[in-house]
Amino acid sequence: MSHALPFSPSILITGATGFLGGALAADMLAKPEWDNVLLLVRGEDASHAYQRMLRSLARFTFNLELLGRLKPEQVLSGDFTQPAAFIADARLTGIKRVVHCAALTSFGANTRVFSTNVDGTLRFVHHLRQVATIERFLHVSTAMICGDQPTAIVREDEFPRARVKHLVNYTESKAEAERLLRLTLPGFPLVVVRPSIIAGHTRLGCSPSGSIYWTFRMADALGMITCSSAARMDVVPVDYAASALRHLLVCPQLAHPTYHISSDEQSSCTWREIAAAFALTRVKVAHVALAWGGHESAGGGAETDYRTVEFEEIAARRQEFDTLFGPCNKKFMLAAANLYAGFAALDTVFDSSRLRAEGMPASPRFTDYLHVCEKSSSAYTIADQGTIDFA
Ligand SMILES: NC(=O)c1ccc[n+]([C@@H]2O[C@H](COP(=O)([O-])OP(=O)(O)OC[C@H]3O[C@@H](n4cnc5c(N)ncnc54)[C@H](OP(=O)(O)O)[C@@H]3O)[C@@H](O)[C@H]2O)c1
Repeated sequence: MSHALPFSPSILITGATGFLGGALAADMLAKPEWDNVLLLVRGEDASHAYQRMLRSLARFTFNLELLGRLKPEQVLSGDFTQPAAFIADARLTGIKRVVHCAALTSFGANTRVFSTNVDGTLRFVHHLRQVATIERFLHVSTAMICGDQPTAIVREDEFPRARVKHLVNYTESKAEAERLLRLTLPGFPLVVVRPSIIAGHTRLGCSPSGSIYWTFRMADALGMITCSSAARMDVVPVDYAASALRHLLVCPQLAHPTYHISSDEQSSCTWREIAAAFALTRVKVAHVALAWGGHESAGGGAETDYRTVEFEEIAARRQEFDTLFGPCNKKFMLAAANLYAGFAALDTVFDSSRLRAEGMPASPRFTDYLHVCEKSSSAYTIADQGTIDFA
């Protein structure tokens, strides 16, 4: 008579129903270490959490054989901010490596941002280390903890620091979580990972999520930006960010306690290049339309640069918003445009030499896969795609 061995995973991932965590889980699904993965997922019960996880993976792969690799016992139902409810689960005792992707990422004025991202994260880590011997805890933060006045090239050790003015509460909460984790857990094998702006997927475009990509569509629809078109945007695709996270997770040794996942100088793009990539996509669409017997205007204009304007000029066009962005709440869209204009004006890139020294290649350029994002976004209005970042 044979008895199945109890499932004893060694890797824990949180936030795998989200954009980055989902991409990470999908990346690992085909890898040997998948069988050792446990996923902490919110749900009404274990079965609901499992179904949510399955749906998350299905955004990234249609391969049923691969999806079949997600076993119900790999999903632990729980809210990371309430660890007392799940910490006694026997599956946690063998956990050695963790990727903590879960966070409240809303850019809106969500009052739970600090209680989730700061208090909740601290509570989660402090509970987890009581039951498991952790050898590496990857805490996913954000490069945007740099605030509103970063230098042209930001290096990991410059932040977090005092007296930084944040553009949104969310980035402030991530900076505070980093600070308190370091302060309260001396000697803990904490590795902070800071992705820059994540938009789209190199193969799937915005099918898994249109998060942030809609803001580029917004600028393109207006043909206007509030910064110089020579300003650089540090954007990475979610599949690259996921693969970098996995690399940092499985790498036997890491040289540093903090890493950027970014496009850096070599793969970042200027707004002028982004404008040209959008224009090229329109030209291609127009050619396809012509080939199918359409009219010359089918693809829209082929402007190859944006006009730099004061924000008031964008506000003055609010009556056009329904036409440009799809039916929308104009006040909301204006506030969003104002907020993202702050990020666009940073004109900063995040140094990624540490990540590359660990063996990761450079990030793909946003402009090289923008056409994939565009194609997969065509069924959604800009306004609809935008709601995700303010939920
Ligand atoms: N996307 C970016 O551009 C970007 C850039 C830099 C850094 N980051 C960082 O990357 C991480 C992932 O971001 P994302 O864009 O993937 O965010 P996301 O799509 O909003 O996903 C957030 C994830 O966190 C989970 N979560 C939130 N609160 C939870 C709780 N109390 N208990 C359990 N799970 C909880 C969500 O689960 P539910 O499905 O149950 O809500 C979801 O799986 C975050 O730490 C973020 O700060 C993101």
